[in-house]
Amino acid sequence: MRQAGRSLPEYRKIRGSGSILEVASDPERAAQITLQPVERYGVDAAILFSDIMVPVFSINFGIEIQSGVGPVVENPFRSSNDLKRLRALEPEIDVPYVGETIKILSQECPVPVIGFAGAPFTVASYLIEGKPSRSLEKTKALMEEEPEIWDSLMDILSEITISSLKHQIESGASAIQLFDSWAGLIDPKKYEEKVFPYSKKVLSSFDDPLVPKIHFGLGTQPILHLIAEAGADVVGIDSNTPIDVAREKLGNEIAIQGNLNPEICLGPIEEVEKAVSEILMLNSNNFGHIFNLGHGVLPDTDPAVLAHVVEMVHSHELPEKNNA
Ligand code: CP3
Repeated sequence: MRQAGRSLPEYRKIRGSGSILEVASDPERAAQITLQPVERYGVDAAILFSDIMVPVFSINFGIEIQSGVGPVVENPFRSSNDLKRLRALEPEIDVPYVGETIKILSQECPVPVIGFAGAPFTVASYLIEGKPSRSLEKTKALMEEEPEIWDSLMDILSEITISSLKHQIESGASAIQLFDSWAGLIDPKKYEEKVFPYSKKVLSSFDDPLVPKIHFGLGTQPILHLIAEAGADVVGIDSNTPIDVAREKLGNEIAIQGNLNPEICLGPIEEVEKAVSEILMLNSNNFGHIFNLGHGVLPDTDPAVLAHVVEMVHSHELPEKNNA
């Protein structure tokens, strides 16, 4: 459950009032926060406490994450000159704290730890827009009007993403998740031409069958086959794609992660139960399913509701695999 920790009182206590990037760079605190949802809910995996903007932050692109807003860039990416502000990531020098956090978790975390990175497109969109945007106008304009700069930017960001994920795996991450949160905001043809090759490059750099690759984006129903084709073992879907529709598009051989609507978790428990049962039913007991929310936990979510969701999923009985 992404950002499962943010609704917990124990998270707010340890987080303090500084920037989340500051907290993420303190391995002891980052490891403790990673463990909080595991301890509270008994979930089956932990997601590393960090952020998709950590690598570009660490090479000093000039980024902060404003609470309640998201990533903000002081001087957004505008022209070929800005390519000079980016360089290869040297994880041991730039983000040693990420490796240290995962090493602590290798000792202390009772469940697998999922490492992650932002996909080149979603990270690029923050660098270009300068702040969270629903239309991504500047990103789309750069992609169209400056194809060479776009390709160079996506190339550099792909390399940064690969280095970051390699470092996390070497430090002990058991699985990796590529977040392309805004992939659904562009036209499917443009996605295929201008975004897909880079996500594919990133995911195809990892081929250890023991380290599964999860690929997630919002609003990806029209491009679901490409999200899979980019090299995912698991496709993460949001709440707007019913799981049976995703299955129809993806077949039965790939795992699906999702997709309880986080907003439902703010409402009456009966509605939550109904929604959880429906997802389990629509999945028709397919074994390749990681039950999750369709997007991050909302800050006002009652922890008791999430605890109940975990309990419901854990008590759901699957048929014997051999007889299925
Ligand atoms: O789930 C976890 O707690 C694990 C760590 C994690 C964070 N961000 C910590 C965080 C993960 C996996 C992310 C991914 C992330 N960050 C994404 C991709 C996933 C998605 O949600 O689509 C994106 C787009 C970002 C960028 C970002 N960082 C946004 C949009 C925000 C929200 C700003 C806000 O306050 O509403 C952040 C801040 C952030 N990153 C928080 C957390 C727990 C919010 C809480 C806080 O500031 O303490």
